[in-house]
Amino acid sequence: MNFDPSTLTVHPYAPHHRPELHFAPEKNWINDPNGLIFLNGQYHLFFQHNPFGTDWGHMSWGHAVSRDLLHWEELPVALPEDDEAMIFSGCCVLDFQNTSGLGTLEHPPLIALYTAHHDQTGLQTQNLAYSLDEGQNWAKYGVVLDEGIRDFRDPKVFWHENTQRWIMAVVLAEHRQVVLYASLDLKSWEKQSTFGPAGHTGGIWEVPELLELQDDAGQSHWVVKVDLNPGGPQGGSGCQYFVGQFDGQTFTPTQKARWLDYGKDFYAAITFANLEGRTVWLAWMNNWQYARTHTTGQYSGNMSLPRELYLLNTSEGLVLAQTPIRELDSLWEPIEVPSETQLRAVQHKDLLALKKAVLDLHVQMNSTDQSVYGLVLHCAGQLEWALEFDHLNHTLTLTRQGTVDEEGFQGQHTAPMVSMGVQDVRLILDHSSLEVFVDGGKLVFTEMFFPQEGESRLSMYARSGNVNVHVLHARTPPLV
Ligand code: FRU
Repeated sequence: MNFDPSTLTVHPYAPHHRPELHFAPEKNWINDPNGLIFLNGQYHLFFQHNPFGTDWGHMSWGHAVSRDLLHWEELPVALPEDDEAMIFSGCCVLDFQNTSGLGTLEHPPLIALYTAHHDQTGLQTQNLAYSLDEGQNWAKYGVVLDEGIRDFRDPKVFWHENTQRWIMAVVLAEHRQVVLYASLDLKSWEKQSTFGPAGHTGGIWEVPELLELQDDAGQSHWVVKVDLNPGGPQGGSGCQYFVGQFDGQTFTPTQKARWLDYGKDFYAAITFANLEGRTVWLAWMNNWQYARTHTTGQYSGNMSLPRELYLLNTSEGLVLAQTPIRELDSLWEPIEVPSETQLRAVQHKDLLALKKAVLDLHVQMNSTDQSVYGLVLHCAGQLEWALEFDHLNHTLTLTRQGTVDEEGFQGQHTAPMVSMGVQDVRLILDHSSLEVFVDGGKLVFTEMFFPQEGESRLSMYARSGNVNVHVLHARTPPLV
């Protein structure tokens, strides 16, 4: 977070950039999602928030709730900074057995564990706050884990059934380590083990999570997800994960690190706690490389779409796949597009035009071996991005163009492409964001873009080979 304020570019507030489905605050700055939890039919999203401006600072936990993960209502700030400390990232758990003694068995307390960043000393401790009314009012309990050090942050806690203990993953950012602690009551914590440095270490490590997932053959595995800044796959910040085993004390990876997202704008994802039967997470849709120099005037930052997680056996080992949550499926209306389109090199064809850049498109593209082809979005005549499938080089490249010229914003962002032949692509646009899920979410790109207001036109081109495009669905909100 080294930052020179003279480089700040405030873009005039453009209402047509405000997302419809992705959470963005009414005003001011946000970064990481915090304390995600499902309680009595409501999803709670807390988030890193500066209640006083569009730049990072005065970090506090903002709060929003939703019943469908797509429409959010912003509530008053849940945990404000105080004279001693800013409230950095962390998590919430429902203390269902009242192990902390801060509620009752009938009314279990909602517990937040977060990093207190002590302004005077720079030291970071893990602190506890609790709520007895589902997150509306909070009491700060105080420090529960203090090692007397800096760069010790971002606790994510879960109940470990086998050992009947709470487990916390937290980072030693500069050491590129995830440290695991255990507790019986959420108030006193004992160190169990450390993991790392490992995988990608080109930046500090932040926002870790240890989670259990079943693969598509019903086998259980554990995953460590940890973000890094800088050193991401496309420059600036990024997100990696390791698949392995956890014995209640130690995480042991069984495969190498993989990137979670090949776009530039997916950071600090964490999962919803207390959610039965599926695993859902969301991330801050931004990159520390330019997050603070590019603001939209009234507010700065939004979250990604919530995504469902799957662990899939592939020829490359186990892959963490992400798909947009199923709540999106019944939301929008189909639009008229030809269900089949054929392209030959060198050809360019329009697929569809929209009044606003809001779209959920699912296509399958079948091509000959040597094909190079792509999808392109123009808004108000300006090329915003192109997504190119290159079957010669086995790559997928997202080129972000547009008019934003902060360092690191425009450019070509490439991922290796494993599966060739038929490409299954789901693409979601929400005014100023693009999320691309390829091959059932095994390869994902998340990027922001800030178009001029005007018609959005999605087209296709083939540079070499032939491509058949089959549209499985194309949907937008009513009245587009
Ligand atoms: C990640 C991060 C966290 C920290 C928070 C501060 O984006 O740097 O490590 O807790 O943001 O806002």
